[in-house]
Amino acid sequence: MEINRPINRRTALKVMGMGMLATCVVPLPSFGKSGKSDKIKRLIFYFSATGNSLYVSREIGGEGSVLMSIAQEIHNDNPVYEADEIGFVCPVYCFIPPAIVQDFIARSTFKADYFFAVGTYGAHSTIFPEFLDNLAKEHGVKLNYISTIQMVDTYLPYFDAEREKADPKNDRIPERIAAVSASINNREDYIQPVTQQDRMICEGYYRGSGRDRQRPTVTRSEKIVFATDACIGCGICTSLCPHGSWKVINGHAVPEGDCENCLACVHNCPQKAISIIPTPPEPQEPNRNARYRNPHVTIPDLIKANNQHS
Ligand SMILES: Cc1cc2nc3c(=O)[nH]c(=O)nc-3n(C[C@H](O)[C@H](O)[C@H](O)COP(=O)(O)O)c2cc1C
Repeated sequence: MEINRPINRRTALKVMGMGMLATCVVPLPSFGKSGKSDKIKRLIFYFSATGNSLYVSREIGGEGSVLMSIAQEIHNDNPVYEADEIGFVCPVYCFIPPAIVQDFIARSTFKADYFFAVGTYGAHSTIFPEFLDNLAKEHGVKLNYISTIQMVDTYLPYFDAEREKADPKNDRIPERIAAVSASINNREDYIQPVTQQDRMICEGYYRGSGRDRQRPTVTRSEKIVFATDACIGCGICTSLCPHGSWKVINGHAVPEGDCENCLACVHNCPQKAISIIPTPPEPQEPNRNARYRNPHVTIPDLIKANNQHS
């Protein structure tokens, strides 16, 4: 399994320019003009801020799969993809897929015999399967399988990441991933059901928060995050942001631009120097010192996935 291979055109050109293409063992499948690749059995598109969805993608991928980052592929100017099986793996944000994932599905064309999607979540995935099923159908994709996997919750306004990391629910993560993998390997037809209670939870949240029901987490980075005096200007946040919305000015990181609210910058800052600006009625962080990254995923993995400056 290769991560982010085949790479997008922009990156490929850069790699070729560096004379490194000859070192690639696996030839780049030829998406783009023909939109077809004979080499790929399972193609997984993932979005991940703190590694849970990347880890799940790798586990589901196994041998012979290709993983592609949505934060990179969103820039593909000829987004036509073909494989035997195509999957989407992403976090649940305010009960639905992140806007960047919705946008990627909406603007791309996919051809496969079997389509699957997996949402990773912390507390309640509620309407995620139904929302994604409808969204995909609207854009010509009939998903065969949609499920969600409960993992560590990264939404810091509500959850203390230290408590989340220690929660016994995590013991079952490998079991959950294995069950979902087995279902996908068997090409099961299954859309995780959504209950009336799930819908009521969402309704209560959206009414109370006043958030947009299609793009509830889309915002401006300067409205929700800031770098504290602990910032040393290392610039890692500038490479981790899937919208490239951080820059370093006079040795200090400054957010400005589109924001998915993914919190990649907050969780992965090595100095813990990035914090959230409280946005009422959401609570303040219950534990300012708690940060999380999936233990199987590194900062370079997330930079490779999300960096907008290459
Ligand atoms: C902005 C935001 C919104 C979230 N909303 C939900 C949610 O509605 N339900 C839930 O159970 N978890 C929610 N979470 C938690 C994530 O879905 C969960 O931790 C996910 O596994 C993170 O994936 P990643 O590590 O690949 O980024 C949210 C996290 C963030 C950052």
